[in-house]
Amino acid sequence: MCGIIGYVGSKAAVPILLGGLKRLEYRGYDSAGLALPQTDTMLAIKAVGKVSKLIEATRQHPNTALAESSTSGIAHTRWATHGAPTESNAHPHFDKSQRLALVHNGIIENYRSLRQKLIALGHEFKSDTDTEVLARLIGEYYQGDLRLAVASALRQVEGAYGIAVMSANQPGEIIVARKGSPLVLGIGEHGCLVASDTAALVAHTQQVIYLDDGDLAKITATSIDITDLNQTPIDRSIKQLEPDAGAIEKGGYEHFMLKEIFDQPEAITNTLRGRLDLAQGKSILAGMGTSTRDLAEIRRIVMVGCGTSLHAAMVGEFAFEDLADLHAEVQQAAEFRYRNPLIDAQDLVIAISQSGETADTLAAVREAKEKGALVLGLVNVVGSTIARETGRGVYLHAGPEISVASTKGFTTQVTALLLMALKLARGRRMSQERGEALAKSLAQLPDLIRSVLAQNDAIAQVAQHLVGQEHIFYLGRGPFHPVALEGALKLKEISYLHAEGYHAAELKHGPIALLTPGTPVVVLAPESPVRDKVWSNAEECRARGAKIIAVVTEGTEAPGATAVLTIPACEPLIATIPATIALQLLAYHVARLQQCPIDQPRNLAKSVTVE
Ligand code: F6R
Repeated sequence: MCGIIGYVGSKAAVPILLGGLKRLEYRGYDSAGLALPQTDTMLAIKAVGKVSKLIEATRQHPNTALAESSTSGIAHTRWATHGAPTESNAHPHFDKSQRLALVHNGIIENYRSLRQKLIALGHEFKSDTDTEVLARLIGEYYQGDLRLAVASALRQVEGAYGIAVMSANQPGEIIVARKGSPLVLGIGEHGCLVASDTAALVAHTQQVIYLDDGDLAKITATSIDITDLNQTPIDRSIKQLEPDAGAIEKGGYEHFMLKEIFDQPEAITNTLRGRLDLAQGKSILAGMGTSTRDLAEIRRIVMVGCGTSLHAAMVGEFAFEDLADLHAEVQQAAEFRYRNPLIDAQDLVIAISQSGETADTLAAVREAKEKGALVLGLVNVVGSTIARETGRGVYLHAGPEISVASTKGFTTQVTALLLMALKLARGRRMSQERGEALAKSLAQLPDLIRSVLAQNDAIAQVAQHLVGQEHIFYLGRGPFHPVALEGALKLKEISYLHAEGYHAAELKHGPIALLTPGTPVVVLAPESPVRDKVWSNAEECRARGAKIIAVVTEGTEAPGATAVLTIPACEPLIATIPATIALQLLAYHVARLQQCPIDQPRNLAKSVTVE
């Protein structure tokens, strides 16, 4: 999704802005641009496509010398929402005088009516964007005090925004504001920065201030002054960035996705670190901030999330029911606030989000809090909006996930859900003996994963069966049903092949009509109480000529399968993790063979901060 970086200080701004945009590339975007204050105007450079195009355009710009001497500026990567990805729609956008520039993440919902009003005042729009409406509106209010003008314009605006605004008249200040779209300020030795996430800041500073909704700030080279829209001062504390926020290099791997797949033993070790009491068969999750009484009073668990996080929630549903005897259900975050969710104080709502910024999941958090539920976050990005608004929960500690397709996000989410389930289960009916066994299996996860990663070359061979296929099916049941959904999602998002995940028993109720001789069907059949039933479903497919790619427990049979991927023996809930990793590698190698841009698939964004 869109990214923002702004800088004001004593160094040349252009390299800082372009470097920041490079670091934000992982969020997904389709055009980029920057604006630098000049004597009586804002110099703008924009390009459609990758940041490398913007770098080239900056290098070629006739005004290069001026651009290089600027010590402040704002820049943006745009992921199109209103209007096609063109140069004219790329940010920054300008007011009528061209002296005021704005970059914006989010959506101005009432932009149509505002646009009509501005047209009536003689404005001629140069883009199709909602952002240009806001830039021009600020210009209408501007009478020398940019912060006042921004506050006045924002009072007219409905929707979500994270913005950075500059005026050529005040080149030493940037005005920033946030409502519903994250912004973080960086305090560097040679100036101050603003960005939509910390990835763009880590090269310059470890000291940051997270803005909250309603905050308006003026940043200069040496000061940060935060107020609300009514100029009431606001005090926000300075936080220290996690040391690994900067660990975003590929580390010798061809793609971030492959690196992140191979990161998983370490990522899961970090998720588990200090949280397992092997002797007592318990988990220790201090961040949940819940008393034994709180936990005893929980009647139901409702998990909300989107995409891959939703699939993790579906595994969690089995974990809470099987291990903790607790009624658990999964709700799509996007639907939650529109369906009159029946939530009360005895419900525990768990918001699952790798980025901690997904707009729908955040809205579900707010809705659940309003209804009085106990709300916890299961989030990877420290200091993200969901983490801050839930105030308690479990951090995944997976490290930065740069590849747009989530991998270690999913497996650490499942690991954290299993830890939560163990905690709740031991507070209820689970025996110490059972708790010890489960804790021991969780502690073995990194080794189980390594044995799947060791099959990387073999999985690359199996991938050839999927290349160029019209339809590919993934089947599973029980906790392997969400694994099938996740395997299919991974394949479709990075290889652009049509893949569907199904409950194994559902196939014959319709989708089996799509099977033709040679259609690949990936069957998740590790050891489980229903393994034989799943295998019967595989046979039904094979009888219709399908090629079976089986995922089974080491040492078990997969008669008639075209290819077999194995995972080590462990109980089904735990096995969901190595099984998913086998499918991540499969998707990766298919996408590689299809020559797809694996880390940044078309049309996708890393964090979806619009509804
Ligand atoms: C798929 C993927 C997405 C995200 C979804 C939610 O690989 O990454 O489906 O899982 O957009 O994102 P988070 O977890 O950041 O809320």
